[in-house]
Amino acid sequence: MKVGVFDSGIGGLTVVKSLLEHQLFEEIIYFGDTARVPYGSKDKSTIIRYGIEAVEFFKNFELDMIIVACNSVSAYALSEMNECASCPVIGVVEAGVLATANALQNKDSKVLILGTHATINSKAYETGLKNQGFIYLEAKATPLFVPLVEEEILSGEILNATLKHYFSDTQTPKAVILGCTHFPLLTPVLANHFGENTKLIHSGDAIVEYLENKFDFYKQYANPTLKFFASENPEALRETAKKWLNV
Ligand code: DGL
Repeated sequence: MKVGVFDSGIGGLTVVKSLLEHQLFEEIIYFGDTARVPYGSKDKSTIIRYGIEAVEFFKNFELDMIIVACNSVSAYALSEMNECASCPVIGVVEAGVLATANALQNKDSKVLILGTHATINSKAYETGLKNQGFIYLEAKATPLFVPLVEEEILSGEILNATLKHYFSDTQTPKAVILGCTHFPLLTPVLANHFGENTKLIHSGDAIVEYLENKFDFYKQYANPTLKFFASENPEALRETAKKWLNV
């Protein structure tokens, strides 16, 4: 199977990492809209327009599926993208909701949803989790984590101050949804902050679980073909891909 992975920038490589670990696809074509990142501060109609343009980009390839790694796009633009695509377009929000429901037996468990302003304002995760029976939800936009990850500030004083800024009045949840492509890179620091009784829900792992339940994968591909495209400075994206994915 040949898949396109779309993100607003480099963050979606965290989803590619999970896809590679599970060897699901023969070919992965990544497109990061690095010229227009961040999406998380943009409004719904702009995010939908960018999502549709990404589908147009992917029409240059004969894909079996498009995975939207970006939570902000998954939250707002999925149905519009599906309307103009000739293959299924799958987002990370539904997958994250189902992974949370699988991870927590008790529906009274508190779930903390983290994301960009767009993702949090959309209430996409909250709606999905409520439909699964969860009632004790806290949603928090934590966009400062995005530039910190891009600057590779993954520990230390600035990050600790940011954690304090966002979470000083947050009661420890049973699960934290890492509802932004960049946040999985903060897994060690968030795990340490919330403690071992809190599960962290990673979009990449959630989408793998979702795909394996929904589609038949007959073969594994240890050495898939990888192609990386970006709307600006594709070389920088390819360098980051080499570093993050060891490819
Ligand atoms: N990719 C975005 C997301 O997952 C985060 C970065 C951005 O704001 O564009 O929501």
